[in-house]
Amino acid sequence: MQVNGERFLKDLHALRQFGASGVGKGVVRPAYSGADIAAREWLAGQMDAAGLEPRFDTVGNLFGLAPGRSLLMGSHSDSQPEGGWLDGALGVVMALEIARATQEAGGPAVSVANFQDEEGRFGVTTGSAIWSGQLPLDKADRLTDSAGVTFADARSAMAHLAGEPIDPARFTGFVECHIEQGPWLHEAGQAIGVVTDIVGIRDMTITLEGEQNHAGTTPMHRRRDAFQVLSAFNTALNDRLRNVVTPQSVWTIGHVDLHPGAHSIVPGRVTFSMQWRDGDTGRLKRMEDVIRQTATEVAAERGMALSFSGMLGLEPVAMDRGLRAALGAAAQDLVPGRWREMQSGALHDATNVAALMPAAMMFVPSIGGISHAFAEDTDEADLLTGLEVMARALPDLCKAH
Ligand code: GLV
Ligand code: MN
Ligand code: MN
Repeated sequence: MQVNGERFLKDLHALRQFGASGVGKGVVRPAYSGADIAAREWLAGQMDAAGLEPRFDTVGNLFGLAPGRSLLMGSHSDSQPEGGWLDGALGVVMALEIARATQEAGGPAVSVANFQDEEGRFGVTTGSAIWSGQLPLDKADRLTDSAGVTFADARSAMAHLAGEPIDPARFTGFVECHIEQGPWLHEAGQAIGVVTDIVGIRDMTITLEGEQNHAGTTPMHRRRDAFQVLSAFNTALNDRLRNVVTPQSVWTIGHVDLHPGAHSIVPGRVTFSMQWRDGDTGRLKRMEDVIRQTATEVAAERGMALSFSGMLGLEPVAMDRGLRAALGAAAQDLVPGRWREMQSGALHDATNVAALMPAAMMFVPSIGGISHAFAEDTDEADLLTGLEVMARALPDLCKAH
């Protein structure tokens, strides 16, 4: 089977035009935005041209179906609010090229998946969580984004495309190629990562409420300042988490809404995101306990009201051994000494799909380890190596189950 590197890169660059940020190669293509829907419609056209049957499900997951039973490959084409051109897009476009090339060569059947809202505008890997049956649609519909828009409202923008559910039983397994999004492959001069497991995640919103007041007249000792308390919480949390974490554990306060947000007002309320990730379920729980306990103590000390939202999460998931072995053997053939097995600290649709069928992932390097930023990039030579390794692995990926 002969993959066409030029055609693959051309498609990747074409997809980048949907929501191009104008800053580097970055994209702004959040789930259900105009750019996201236009990109999905374009991809459906490419699937059609490749002889696959394009089908959208009720939430905008797009599948390009090969006839009969097939291996499913893919990822997602939605982006973070400020995203890179390869996060998700690489896996979808690589799947398209592999599906085309195998069809041209009369090889094993490959279908393509392009999941919706992997980046979690509404949750965490929302589209594949729904498809895999782990997130009920009625629960998803009640999720809101940071502007208060509900998932139900957002997905109605794609209602005209929605079709019947896609039966997972038609697929023998799932393989996702992705950029690493971390520094290790690039730093080591390696070309390929074969993923052993994907970490778990917990995500919630915390609100601290004190007293809004005048920034000139309110003495410091009388203030119940939401920002000061958030700051104290963050310092205490970093200190206390040290007792339970490993170097692989991560935690992030990525979104802060300080009310009312004016120079001359002592802020009365803060609502902020609290997310943490680790490869061990027990440690995720211990981190949760520390987070809740620290927030409770800091809020009580400063006379603040405290509330926690519901928590979203995904469990750590191991990748399928047979599929992993196929990817590793192909990497060993094509880039001996320049590949490794590694954990994924980023979340991926493969986490959800693994509940339905054997699933595996392959990484290519990210320059400087940068992702979820306009500056995200990968050398084209590494993108092409990834395509060649996947093509080499295909017969074994199809045989593995
Ligand atoms: C997915 O993009 C993640 O946040 O890991
Ligand atoms: Mn991604
Ligand atoms: Mn991402």
